[in-house]
Amino acid sequence: MTAPKYHLTSYGCQMNKLDSELVESKLRQRGYEPAATEAEASVVLLNTCSVRQHAEDRVWSKLGKLRIRKRSDPSLVVGVLGCMAQEHKRYLVSRMPHVDLVVGPSAFGDIDDTVEMARSRNAQIAAEREPAKTRHEVQGAGVVTVGQGVSGDLIRRDVRVRPHRSQAFVSVMRGCNMPCTYCIVPTTRGDEVSRPIVDLVEEAQRLCDDGVTEITLLGQTVNAYGRDLTGQNATLARLLRALHEIPSLRRLAFITSHPNFLNQELVDAMAELPKVARYLHLPVQSGSNAVLKAMRRGYTVERYLARLDMLRSKAPDIELHSDFIVGYPGETAADFEATVDLVNRVGFAQSYVFKYSPRPGTLAAELPDDVPDAEKERRNHVLLAAQEALTWQHNRALVGKTTEVLVEGVSKVDGRLSGRTAHHRLVHFASQDMDLVGQYVPVLVTEALAHSVVGDLLATTAAQEGAHDRSEVVHP
Ligand code: 5AD
Ligand code: SF4
Repeated sequence: MTAPKYHLTSYGCQMNKLDSELVESKLRQRGYEPAATEAEASVVLLNTCSVRQHAEDRVWSKLGKLRIRKRSDPSLVVGVLGCMAQEHKRYLVSRMPHVDLVVGPSAFGDIDDTVEMARSRNAQIAAEREPAKTRHEVQGAGVVTVGQGVSGDLIRRDVRVRPHRSQAFVSVMRGCNMPCTYCIVPTTRGDEVSRPIVDLVEEAQRLCDDGVTEITLLGQTVNAYGRDLTGQNATLARLLRALHEIPSLRRLAFITSHPNFLNQELVDAMAELPKVARYLHLPVQSGSNAVLKAMRRGYTVERYLARLDMLRSKAPDIELHSDFIVGYPGETAADFEATVDLVNRVGFAQSYVFKYSPRPGTLAAELPDDVPDAEKERRNHVLLAAQEALTWQHNRALVGKTTEVLVEGVSKVDGRLSGRTAHHRLVHFASQDMDLVGQYVPVLVTEALAHSVVGDLLATTAAQEGAHDRSEVVHP
């Protein structure tokens, strides 16, 4: 018998992508094989995101298409995983009979059993002569695993299942305990749960033994890591120091940080540890104190800037990345101007800008969504333009310099190789040598583009010598 084929699509954040790797590794251990296309799969899984309406809309429309496919192919197994499974479990189970499994983000530990269960039910149903009616009744109950079940991280990870040979993500904590009024994440992902340092070092070591040289630690508030591990003295700074000891590890990054937990201990670690990536994703969300207060972010613009001063006095080479929400309820044109001013004042290297999207069940959803969509669109556009001008400046500053690039693969646009610097900047360069993928090479930057830079590959020995050079820029 041929192995059953699955197809898994991930929506949303990096954490979801890593969860998807975990799901895949469980399915592969169970004898499943990845399908080349969704049409070839007998198990179609969607790992979903609820952070904005747009992300949910894409999944609802996908589910509509799968409903049609299932009419002619009743044994097809359709699964909704992740945040929407948690958030909409009732609706999915009662109103979407073509959905066979609904699995929340904290219940991936036995996903293979859940999929097996759904498959055997479908096979049984298909064998019965009255598919439509019978199916409806049986599917009404669905196979649902949501809530605080077994966290996927508690299961020993199969480090071989990962998309990149030399790069990997490691989830250091799940959930979020922050009170941000607009955000659904604390509801869908639950309370903060950090993993002990020994477990993380063990996982990182196994990844590095398997060829990984760049690790990115993941957490919704990654720099609050460890605060639930009472008595263990676990902090992100201590974790970075422990991981830094792994000899074959060359780069260590972490996303996403919350301004309230950027402290001296972390700044010292970033300043002292040469393998730590030279960027910090520290979303400020707004440059208006009134909006920050309404969002319950727990800091003012002044406090945010004071924390940046602390960072820059010790580690001036760190570049800043941010997220912004425009059109939060009550945000005035003046509030928005304050955000544009802050972007220019800080000089972020990169920002994500989102139009406010009310999430049912959050505190902000109780407020009138009073910034018209056209105005949200305008603010989005203006802020992105401000950020693009800054990104461009950062990129231009690299022209004429040599930078160390971890080669990630072939660029989709023109077949050149591309990779990233320690500052997370995207670099393209001409080369046919696919063996360079996964290597650290020196590239002389010759041209700045809006979202990347272009350069020439230099002789590779310099890269080995400069392996742990603390700065991105190695002068030619
Ligand atoms: N509407 C728009 N953007 C949101 N984000 C979180 N919740 C919402 C929402 N309801 C953004 C924040 C966060 C990023 C991951 O998504 O900027 O940092
Ligand atoms: Fe959402 Fe705020 Fe937690 Fe980030 S810190 S996941 S924005 S609640």
